[in-house]
Parts: sequence; C-alpha cells; structure tokens
Amino acid sequence: MPPADFRHAQPAVAAQPYTLVRENREQLGGHRGRVVWFTGLSGAGKSTLANALEVALHRVQKRTYVLDGDNIRRGLCKDLGFSDADRVENMRRVAEVARLFVDAGVLVLVAFISPFRAERQAARELFAPGDFLEVFVDVPLAVAEQRDTKGLYQKARSGALSHLTGIDSPYEPPLAPDLALRTDRISIDACVDRLLALLETSQDATAPIAQHAAGTHPGPAAIHAPQP
Ligand SMILES: Nc1ncnc2c1ncn2[C@@H]1O[C@H](COP(=O)(O)OP(=O)(O)OP(=O)(O)O)[C@@H](O)[C@H]1O
Ligand SMILES: [Mg+2]
Repeated sequence: MPPADFRHAQPAVAAQPYTLVRENREQLGGHRGRVVWFTGLSGAGKSTLANALEVALHRVQKRTYVLDGDNIRRGLCKDLGFSDADRVENMRRVAEVARLFVDAGVLVLVAFISPFRAERQAARELFAPGDFLEVFVDVPLAVAEQRDTKGLYQKARSGALSHLTGIDSPYEPPLAPDLALRTDRISIDACVDRLLALLETSQDATAPIAQHAAGTHPGPAAIHAPQP
C-alpha cells in the first residue's frame, strides 16, 4: 500500500476564505477544539470511554461530539467495506470530519479501531501539534475476545466473518500514544480521570485559545469587541 498522506488537495480548488475563523468560534464556546482519537481492538473500550468522557466534558459545559466507527459506517461511510483500502478511506473521511469539528471549536472524540499506524499518523498530520491526542485503548486480544461485546470474535473464529482486526486483519499498536489505557486493569472512571488530566495538561494554559497566523480575517477582538 502506498504511504498514507491525507493532506493532498485538489490543486485546482483554492480555499474560500470566510470572515469568521476557528478562533472566533472557540472564543464563543470558551475552549479550544481538539481531537481525542481512540484506537484499539474491537471490544477494547473505545466507545465506552468516548461516551464516558463526553458525559464528563458535557457536565462541565464543553462542546463535544463523538465520531464512532459503527455510527459513521451507517451513513458517511456506508459504501465502504473492511478491505485495507476501504479502511484507509474510512479513516481519511473521519479524519477530515474531525478537522471540521475542530475548526468549529468542538472537542471531538473519535472511536475508531483505526488499525494502521500510517493512517493514524496521516490523520495526526492534518492537525496542528497539540490538537490531536492519540489514546491507545489497550487490552490483550484474549480479553477483547472474551468480552466479545458484539459477537464478532465468535463469528470470525467460526469462519462466518472475515477481516476482523486482530484475527485475520492486522492491528498495529501505537508506538508513542499520548495516553495508553489498559482497560482490563483500570476502571472506566479511572480511565476518564486520566483522559481529563490529559486534556488539562497537554496544552499550555497560557496559550491563546487557538493559534492563527495573522491574515485578512478579523481576530476575535474585532468580532467580540469589549462592551463599553
Ligand atoms: N476500563 C474500561 N474501559 C472501557 N471499557 C471497559 C472497561 N472495563 C470494562 N469495559 C467493558 O469493555 C467493553 C468495551 O466495549 P466497547 O463497545 O466500548 O468496545 P469498542 O472498543 O468500542 O469496540 P468496537 O471497535 O467493536 O466498537 C464494554 O462492555 C465495557 O463495559
Ligand atoms: Mg465501539
């Protein structure tokens, strides 16, 4: 497979500038847009943790959205299967959607098996440093298989299902994730605490809500001028 590069754009299409930019939206929401990207085997706990983290963030009035592999495959990616090429395209699309959410100033939680290192790296490269946090939801295959939350492992073992990650399709664990969570050793609540700590500590609290090169767009000061 050629090396993944999600940054390629149609050369003939120039970006259309808009007056409002990400920073304006972040000012309105009161926090930065970022991606927390959960990767791991089926049954590792990606959706469970994305759900629990979203609830915790919602409680403290953060604007969130979850992009879950299963839900995305019911709509945006319903034309894709589980071949390597389709998995790559699946990743590319969700990474681009996540980028739109970050531009909207939202904390976007991606719960995708995302088995290939190169595609996770390609997804990371769509974002500024610090905007993309990779979380390895880590369990031994035996634990995921014992959980078998969707019965997929049983189907794969009996030959009724092919291309299941970990069985007859590879999973490449992250080499340097921003956080690794052994969900067979740490409770869901403890995982959420670590995720909240990651979000808290992985950004410079003194940094502006978003970094933008000075351009033709008005800065937030122009949009949110202080009231006299
Ligand atoms: N600390 C933990 N964190 C997350 N899940 C846990 C934890 N401990 C136990 N579990 C259980 O493990 C299972 C994880 O299932 P979940 O559907 O979240 O996996 P998934 O990674 O989203 O799988 P898939 O890729 O098939 O969607 C759930 O039944 C959950 O209750
Ligand atoms: Mg899931």
